[in-house]
Amino acid sequence: RTRVTAVKGRCLNLLTNGPFCFRRVNRDCLIIITQQSRFVNTFFHFFENIFSGCFFLIIKPDCVLGLATGDTPIGMYNELVAKYEAGEIDFSAVRSINLDEYYPISPDNDQSYRYFMNKHLFDRVNIDKANTRVPDGTAENVREFCSAYEAHLDALGGTDVQVLGIGRNGHIGFNEPADEFTAGTYKVKLTDSTIEANKIYFDHEEDVPRYAITMGVESIINAKEIILIAEGKAKAQAIHDMIKGEISPSCPASILQKHDNVHIFIDKDAASLL
Ligand code: GLP
Repeated sequence: RTRVTAVKGRCLNLLTNGPFCFRRVNRDCLIIITQQSRFVNTFFHFFENIFSGCFFLIIKPDCVLGLATGDTPIGMYNELVAKYEAGEIDFSAVRSINLDEYYPISPDNDQSYRYFMNKHLFDRVNIDKANTRVPDGTAENVREFCSAYEAHLDALGGTDVQVLGIGRNGHIGFNEPADEFTAGTYKVKLTDSTIEANKIYFDHEEDVPRYAITMGVESIINAKEIILIAEGKAKAQAIHDMIKGEISPSCPASILQKHDNVHIFIDKDAASLL
């Protein structure tokens, strides 16, 4: 079992007086805990400064980005847009593929993840929308759609970096707690806890779609690099189980313990049970 221990060396020296605290879970997994709750706007600066070799958009302009939705990554998208506007990054060659989408839902619905991505990122930078993919919440033959999505992911050569949020129940994408880790893209029935968490975005609880199309856990962890971000007390148990719990499909995010290149950005509240 991996143990959380303070990282020694360069990162720690750099950050002793800063607002961030770095801990290393094992050789390959770094946890960055911020003292402030609103941190996502600044974490890319740290990423760039400290892991200068890792800043994917600069080192690989034609990278494949695995993207996520939810409140948590909005600050990150704002930061990317600011860097684009400052002429520091260019999306013209970037390909992207999103984790998930409600089902059924129309892309014009302002709660769809396609709508979210256009609003927070794609319409604000020079990405070619033909190079972006979000699962189709209107697909008629879902099974066929899911195989085609998976084939597209393969054709891209997988994602260079996958951005992840985490659900209160430890879900990643829409991979809910289950008896087995899931493989490729599939249609999933949402749990009551997810419907409850997401109903605030809809006028009525009945409007929350009961299903979703999501990349499976295996497609997610095939990413070369993973960045997971979380904030707030509501995520503390999931973060605890992900890092300190057994690797188990009852906490889908715990699979990240097996990945060899994960960066976890969390605030103090989300880290409060570690
Ligand atoms: C949704 C998404 C997840 C996301 C999670 C957390 O259910 N399917 O991909 O990580 O919610 O969202 P938030 O960042 O809003 O807490």
